[in-house]
Amino acid sequence: MLRVENLHIGYGQIEILHGVSLDVKENEIVAVLGANGAGKSTLIKTLIGWLKPRSGEIYLNEEPIQQLPPWQRIAKGIGLVPETGRIFRDLSVEDNLRLGAYLQSEAIIKEQFQVVYELFPILAERRKQTAKTLSGGEQQMLAIGRAMMSNPRLLLVDEVSMGLMPILVKRVLQVIGELRNHQVSVLLVEQNAYEALKIVDRAYILENGHLVLQGTPQELQENPKVKAAYLGG
Ligand SMILES: Nc1ncnc2c1ncn2[C@@H]1O[C@H](COP(=O)(O)OP(=O)(O)O)[C@@H](O)[C@H]1O
Ligand SMILES: [Mg+2]
Repeated sequence: MLRVENLHIGYGQIEILHGVSLDVKENEIVAVLGANGAGKSTLIKTLIGWLKPRSGEIYLNEEPIQQLPPWQRIAKGIGLVPETGRIFRDLSVEDNLRLGAYLQSEAIIKEQFQVVYELFPILAERRKQTAKTLSGGEQQMLAIGRAMMSNPRLLLVDEVSMGLMPILVKRVLQVIGELRNHQVSVLLVEQNAYEALKIVDRAYILENGHLVLQGTPQELQENPKVKAAYLGG
C-alpha cells in the first residue's frame, strides 16, 4: 500500500530524519513509535505532501507520489488525521464531516456518513452541535471521522492520544483498530507506545532520526530495550 525508501527530511540546515524506510501493507495497522521531538510529525507531513523530503522515495501502490501536491495524494486515497485534530470549532459536527468529503460524490458522502456514525455513534448524537462544544475525546473522534469521509485506503494518524485522558486514549485507539474492518490501512505515529502496541499489527521504533527496530507488538513488548525506554520497564 505505502512504501517509503530512504527518506531524508529536515528543516533548513538541520536534518531530522536520516534515511527512513518503511512499509504498510493492505489492511495493516502500523505504528511509528518515538519520543517527543523524534520526528514523527515531520514524517507524517512529508507523507501527505506538506514537506518536501531532501531525498528518498514515497510509493502508494507502487506509484511514486512525492511530486504530487497534498490534494492529489488525498484524491489517490490518503487520509490524514493531523496533530491535535484541527477541526473547525465553529462548525457543526456534520459540517466538519462534510468538509472532509469535499472531493467525493454524493453517493460516497452518504455511505461515509454511515461508516463514520457507525464507528462513532456519539458523533451521530451530536451531529448538530458546534464542534467546540465537544469534549477533547469527541473532538479527536471527529478528526478521525473527518479523515474517513474522504473514503481513504490509507489513513495517516498523527498522535491521536495527545492531550486525552487515558480512558479516551484507549477508546480512540480501539476505533482505529476497528478500521481493519473497513478496508483501510493505517500508519499512526505515537508517543504512547504502551497503548498503541495493543492495536497494531506491527510497529517501528524511531530514535535519533533512524528506525532502529521493528516487529510485532509481542516482539517489541518482550524486547528489553523497548521495555526500558517506552513501556516503563
Ligand atoms: N517547522 C520547523 N522548523 C524547524 N524545526 C522544526 C520544525 N518543525 C519541527 N522541527 C523540529 O524537528 C524535530 C522533530 O519534530 P516533530 O517532527 O514535530 O517531532 P514529534 O512529532 O516526534 O514530536 C524537533 O526537534 C523540532 O523542534
Ligand atoms: Mg508530533
